[in-house]
Amino acid sequence: MRKIYSEPKKIGEIEIKNRFVRSATGERLTSEDGRVTDELIQFYEVLAEGGVGLIITGVTYVHANGKGIPNQLGIDKDDLIPGLRKLTEVVHKCGENCKIAVQLHHSGRQSMVLENPPAPSAVFEPTFNVMPREMTIKDIEDTVEAFAEAARRAKEAGFDAIQLHAAHGYLLSQFLSPYTNKRTDGYGGSTENRIKIIEEVYEKTVDMVGKHFPILIKMNVDDFLDGGIKLDESMKIAEKFSKMGFAAIETSGCMWEVILRTKKELGWHPAFNPEARIGIDSKEKEAYHLPYAKEIKKVIKIPLILVGGIRSLDVIEKILNEENADFIGLCRPLIREPDLPNKWLKGIGKITCECISCNGCTASLLSGSIRCTQKK
Ligand SMILES: Cc1cc2nc3c(=O)[nH]c(=O)nc-3n(C[C@H](O)[C@H](O)[C@H](O)COP(=O)(O)O)c2cc1C
Ligand code: SF4
Repeated sequence: MRKIYSEPKKIGEIEIKNRFVRSATGERLTSEDGRVTDELIQFYEVLAEGGVGLIITGVTYVHANGKGIPNQLGIDKDDLIPGLRKLTEVVHKCGENCKIAVQLHHSGRQSMVLENPPAPSAVFEPTFNVMPREMTIKDIEDTVEAFAEAARRAKEAGFDAIQLHAAHGYLLSQFLSPYTNKRTDGYGGSTENRIKIIEEVYEKTVDMVGKHFPILIKMNVDDFLDGGIKLDESMKIAEKFSKMGFAAIETSGCMWEVILRTKKELGWHPAFNPEARIGIDSKEKEAYHLPYAKEIKKVIKIPLILVGGIRSLDVIEKILNEENADFIGLCRPLIREPDLPNKWLKGIGKITCECISCNGCTASLLSGSIRCTQKK
């Protein structure tokens, strides 16, 4: 069988050397004001040396009113560019043709650090205990501008691409979802209207960085909440993104409120993280978004990055051989083993990675900074 996972493939006009993508992973390794630190650079150096084809940074705020967590990476000011450039230079130098995209993020109502953040509608957020304020048209215009300006900074800092974070219940996901978007103007109501802000961000960003700079998007295949997005609608949204000109779609799912339901079902667990399921202890439980991705793949003409509980090389081979995805997104496996792609590419190490999906890393992120709590 062909080892497709080792073969290069393009995202937009850039070639990714293999099919392994480091899915965005917030690290909380910056200074308080969102600047790149030596610690963050070392963290990325290790990742790049580990053989992954494309690194997507953790959530990076495009505006101070969209900050989600303390010590989050920022890209909202020009004076952050030199630090970000150091980061991209290290990845390009150490990673033997490793590429790096920055994940552009606005938290909206899911913020750990802001009391009254802007959101599409004033819908209370119970996990973060936040009452957001409904954005005015001027707020929306400013936010579109903030994303486009952040993209310009990303290009100037040497990133190979950007990814819009429109998943997991953050601002762009809040606009997409009827669960959180109750607007009665042109940005709410129909699917078309709920997509509108992303369309405007896309167009303004292309004006700013040109059409050759790849713009990726991460989206929910399902919000996993009653009244939220379900597969029939996410297929329409994905098709629209593909036609709009996005370079690739990463398929994920959930909003943070899903935690409350999970808590009721399973009891309290300090490391609940809705998009990162715990207890992936068999191959049957792996790749939990695969059934959705298979359907999305049918309606898009751009590469699909599949993420969520992918742990074994034979599972990966099957997904790629059956053309259910073009790239494999890995988050927790690379927290545990940043050199996992090299181990798999060189045929050393085990078929199943060492991550046991316990989410100790989520707990460590919520209380400080990223760390695999299982690593000796
Ligand atoms: C500690 C931690 C931090 C994460 N940070 C982000 C993030 O910054 N942006 C994002 O889109 N997803 C984030 N995720 C979700 C992952 O990108 C991924 O979608 C999810 O963990 C499932 O993939 P996995 O099973 O390979 O971990 C995070 C997940 C974890 C566990
Ligand atoms: S703490 Fe380590 S083993 Fe547990 S989920 Fe995170 S990376 Fe995997």
